[in-house]
Amino acid sequence: MIGVRYLKNAAPYHAVTHDAWEQKENREVLKLDWNEATIEPSPVVLKALEQAVTQGRLNWYPDLENHDLLNELHLYTDLPQDHIQYFASSDAAHEYIFKAFTQENDVVAVLAPTYDNVRATAEGMGRKVDYLFLEEGEFYWNYERVANTLKDLSCRLVYICNPNNPTGTVMDVAELKRLVQDHPSKLFLIDEAYFEFSNVTLAKAVLELKNVMISRTFSKAFALASFRVGYVLSCPENIQLISKIRNPKSVTAFSQIAATAALQDLDYTKAYVQEVSTAREFFCKKLKALAPFVDCVQSGPTNFVLIKLADGLKPEFIRFLKDRFIYVRDFQAHPQLSEWLRITIGTREQMNALYAVIDIFVRQQLKKSA
Ligand SMILES: Cc1ncc(COP(=O)(O)O)c(C=O)c1O
Repeated sequence: MIGVRYLKNAAPYHAVTHDAWEQKENREVLKLDWNEATIEPSPVVLKALEQAVTQGRLNWYPDLENHDLLNELHLYTDLPQDHIQYFASSDAAHEYIFKAFTQENDVVAVLAPTYDNVRATAEGMGRKVDYLFLEEGEFYWNYERVANTLKDLSCRLVYICNPNNPTGTVMDVAELKRLVQDHPSKLFLIDEAYFEFSNVTLAKAVLELKNVMISRTFSKAFALASFRVGYVLSCPENIQLISKIRNPKSVTAFSQIAATAALQDLDYTKAYVQEVSTAREFFCKKLKALAPFVDCVQSGPTNFVLIKLADGLKPEFIRFLKDRFIYVRDFQAHPQLSEWLRITIGTREQMNALYAVIDIFVRQQLKKSA
């Protein structure tokens, strides 16, 4: 066989279709399947990008160590610059973290069900994935049970997404910190992709503890998914180690400019986060009122909700939305989530529009069953 031995059995990221991109007619779509922001980046970002285009230097490689961006991240996180490194997305940061801190055949523990790309990344490098689980039913975090399981698990790295995608579960920061402290030989990768929506963070722990790394992204609340920028917070030793293998050219000049400008216009992001929070509350309330058509709604301080529909309705529902250019995430292929679907929360206006479509679908179902 040509190719790496361990890739033979590795399963790809439980990829879903990216239907919105296949839609070429330039129609207005409601893209609620990948938890991106549903609005454009801030006008400050757009202006900075326009200036970058006219200024030239497009034939240059990007800045290898952008001090403006690092300084903005320092101001944003309130951590010293030597505790911060930026990457071409948090997915890319995860790859570097696995590469720098684990070896082939090491076990990586993943608190599941969660963001599947991490499993694919670990398996793609010949690491073995073992799971810790959130409690069945409402996916709540049972600290004692996770701590007990972890005690007996010989693993090099532990991945915990907080708040968790797609369940919305929030792990208590004091408990997380205790877990990190109790396992000094394990590295904890805490994925805070949805930090802006939750305001829950273990960031300050990197000032005291060496076995924790926090990843964050510009793809969600900052509306910069297409630019692929993320960053990592950890102790200076870990940041130095990972920076040795990071390819600094991979964060494009436009991405650096966009991320820096986004951090200079935090009011824009804060307003969007507030908008999403209001829209989520309103939308969840409406959904819950649709019982028994909607069987279950799981939500947390994020820009998505996880829902379960009445028996067998999911495929028809997804098709109904897709026919109206609304895209949501089906978890059919996910071992623990096959009955669920996830909907990204956007603005109140967008969620109102979605609810109007759902209402038509429900009425049709009621008519059928009458
Ligand atoms: C938990 C989590 N981590 C990371 C990512 C990817 O972030 P990035 O766009 O920075 O690679 C996502 C995107 O869905 C996510 O949900």
